[in-house]
Amino acid sequence: MARVLQISDTHLSPTKRHFVENWAPLRAFIDEMRPDLIIHTGDVTVDGADQDEDISHCAELLSDLPAPVLVVPGNHDVGEPLHPHQPVNGERLARWRRHFGEDFWSRDIEGWRLIGLNSMLFGSGEADEARQFTWLEQAMRDAGPRQLAWFLHRPLFIGAPGEGDMGYWSVSREPRARLMTLLRQHAVALVASGHLHKAHDDLRDGTRYIWGPSSGFVVGPALQPEMAGTCRLGAVVYDFDGKGMTAEIKDVGGLKTLWIDDVIHEVYPPRQAA
Ligand SMILES: [Fe+2]
Ligand SMILES: [Fe+2]
Repeated sequence: MARVLQISDTHLSPTKRHFVENWAPLRAFIDEMRPDLIIHTGDVTVDGADQDEDISHCAELLSDLPAPVLVVPGNHDVGEPLHPHQPVNGERLARWRRHFGEDFWSRDIEGWRLIGLNSMLFGSGEADEARQFTWLEQAMRDAGPRQLAWFLHRPLFIGAPGEGDMGYWSVSREPRARLMTLLRQHAVALVASGHLHKAHDDLRDGTRYIWGPSSGFVVGPALQPEMAGTCRLGAVVYDFDGKGMTAEIKDVGGLKTLWIDDVIHEVYPPRQAA
């Protein structure tokens, strides 16, 4: 059996220290859970998309954890597709890769292939978007009898795979449709995401969709449309083996429920929160 811990949306920075107090409890929880692997599903930083020191500081924090760490980037780490102020681009991706390594990856464990995706590339039109897709198709074909799990920052959809464009909150329609086709073709068993700062566990057409909660802060209704899921902090514990998988969204003792709403004017002055 392999134990994997999903953590998400830590939003840490050496200068904007609003959520730093929640790092020590998370760290203690990781020690207690003794994972074989830790996967961070993005928004590691407050503003790694523009602040080099946010990226280097957080890379150092993660390298100090007591298990191997794999990371996929969030919008606040590498920018967003087609964003007017902070678009994902070669420069931002290069900065990420200097400190965290590949922004998409696969790791085989115990009868499973875990695939990390850079969801900020979807719909970006960057050359790396096509490169990632080609790589993904190959990684799926090569998986053999292994079961498949995807980890990414932005969820593929909010309410249903066929819904319209959810803007900031999920992968946009065109790349989503391509991904859903691939997901169905290869019977992907798990899709684990972050970004929403909500906890949700849903089985749909044989695929388990888990929204991993943030360990940093929650988002109030004024800043986020109504959607499924629970407004809470935490982390997700997975146990994978040759037969299948268990997953549980857990409380992390000692986390303080901080609200982005209270500090958004300082942390993300003119932009969106999650
Ligand atoms: Fe995000
Ligand atoms: Fe976030």
